[in-house]
Amino acid sequence: MSQKILVLKGDGIGPEIVNEAIKVLTAVQHKFGLDIELHEELIGGAAFDALGSPLPDATMKKATEVDAIILGAVGGPKWSGVDGSLRPEKGLLGLRSGLDLFANFRPARLYPQLAEASSLKPALVSDLDILIVRELTGGIYFGEPRGIRTLDNGEREGFNTYVYSESEISRIAHIAFQAAQKRGRRLCSVDKSNVLEVTVLWREVVSDIATQYPDVELTHMYVDNAAMQLIRAPKQFDVILTGNMFGDILSDAAAMLTGSIGMLPSASLNSDNKGMYEPIHGTAPDIAGKGIANPLATILSVAMMYRYTFNREDVASAIEQAVNSVLDQGYRTADIVGDAQKTVSTEEMGSAVVSSLQ
Ligand code: IPM
Ligand code: MG
Repeated sequence: MSQKILVLKGDGIGPEIVNEAIKVLTAVQHKFGLDIELHEELIGGAAFDALGSPLPDATMKKATEVDAIILGAVGGPKWSGVDGSLRPEKGLLGLRSGLDLFANFRPARLYPQLAEASSLKPALVSDLDILIVRELTGGIYFGEPRGIRTLDNGEREGFNTYVYSESEISRIAHIAFQAAQKRGRRLCSVDKSNVLEVTVLWREVVSDIATQYPDVELTHMYVDNAAMQLIRAPKQFDVILTGNMFGDILSDAAAMLTGSIGMLPSASLNSDNKGMYEPIHGTAPDIAGKGIANPLATILSVAMMYRYTFNREDVASAIEQAVNSVLDQGYRTADIVGDAQKTVSTEEMGSAVVSSLQ
């Protein structure tokens, strides 16, 4: 059976980095004799410009038909004036929610070759390997009612709703406990239960589920403290479980510890392991089109796709080893370059990974 993959390049540096990921995908296709069927559609600002919607029907239709999606990034200042419901980000959020991709895996792993690029002292981050499990289709990102309304006194008021049902909490908690079982068996659930009722329930449900995983040590932490601990002593964490908004914020912080946000892949899965794979970084409008963006997060997202959706650990580790080997050889894009190394372009980095695979 062929592997049906949808490519959504998006905006800003999206097309540049996805092109390199496709080069790597083609290389593994030949190396492992994979039967791949590639499709491409528009998403985000590019889709809005061409078709007037950040998530055109054709894109949603194709997305439901394929096994996996590779996405670059969406958004940018060009669309900042666009009505909220048509902003590029709505395309991404619509895909996540429309495909029920509730389980978001964001591994933050430091490649030893990049220890110097971390914002923290090498001793604090050496061998850093954290997995953030972020709930992706609920919480304040999707809660209703939401909007901006005008009060009787003429003043405007913005409002959102932070809501999680027990079933939403429990399904992501199971995923996180199971992920912890395959790693260091420590799970830290991050909430704000000293203030927000929705996370009081979150803490209760997660604690109840913990009894089904006696081999995993569960701790709880308030999100403000978690942000501080990530910067103070990040190696205390194994798996972090949290909701949509806190996961968004903490995963950017964790990314920086590993040297560059340009290194971090992600997987967003539904309950059948159908998945969308994207770097956790954005469209980087300031460097878009210059050919200097780091494609490794997107390439590593392809590895995650083989691990989670296609169940091919061999293909996933081949890609990860190739990335490791180009870093060993000193290839660095501008975001991770050190004093002694030569800066390579986006394309050169992609080609180096391809050669290393072959
Ligand atoms: C991310 C991004 C998105 C999010 C944006 C682009 C909507 O920041 O994937 O982390 O907030 O989830
Ligand atoms: Mg984010």
